[in-house]
Amino acid sequence: MWEYYDRRAAQGVRGVNHAVEYWTGLGVEVSVADIEAEADELVRALRGLAPARFVEVGAGPGTFTALLPGRGIALDQSDASLRILLAGPAQVPVVRADALSLPIPDQGVERVYATHIYGILGAEDRRALVSEAKRVARELVIVDAGRPAGVPAEHWQNRTLPDGSSWRIHRRHFEGPDLAAEVDGDVLFAGRFYVLIAA
Ligand SMILES: C[S@@+](CC[C@H](N)C(=O)[O-])C[C@H]1O[C@@H](n2cnc3c(N)ncnc32)[C@H](O)[C@@H]1O
Repeated sequence: MWEYYDRRAAQGVRGVNHAVEYWTGLGVEVSVADIEAEADELVRALRGLAPARFVEVGAGPGTFTALLPGRGIALDQSDASLRILLAGPAQVPVVRADALSLPIPDQGVERVYATHIYGILGAEDRRALVSEAKRVARELVIVDAGRPAGVPAEHWQNRTLPDGSSWRIHRRHFEGPDLAAEVDGDVLFAGRFYVLIAA
């Protein structure tokens, strides 16, 4: 999975067109305008958070980084993704590390943002992510995939990259209240395509 995301970084920041392609591939009828409208709501909810010293885990190429209130660092295992992030608009330092073993002291930041990483992990790794977030911060904010009608809650997806390589990627899709209950948090935003939870 790590290698898949490192290679995928060559595609750059994940934009609305990638989102349309993703949901269409799962059989969801969706337009660019649908995704943009919901992404605007998600961004409004994110911007409504009080600024905090943060680490963003699973930052990837920086899809959300520049939108996150506060000052912090972006963390990912993928060197290629972090290079793209650094060339983008987010003015944050980056660190290449494992989100399940953060190079941050106990309570060293105020908030962990987990952007589209929780839902790609298996159960044991999810628990490790949450426990690591609790160790380093008092708040965990999760941005993840919603669950439009007809989309499975959890499955393995076959993916291919432009270099012709094939991959199996684990993916969950969430109803906001279910994810909030799972991490003992609150729903800040729950749409068809995005959920935002604070725990
Ligand atoms: C689905 S992508 C999300 C990227 C970006 N946040 C976004 O929303 O577009 C998941 C990211 O998590 C990273 N990742 C997965 N497991 C990780 C781990 N244990 N430690 C650090 N990064 C990890 C991958 O390299 C990838 O960049």
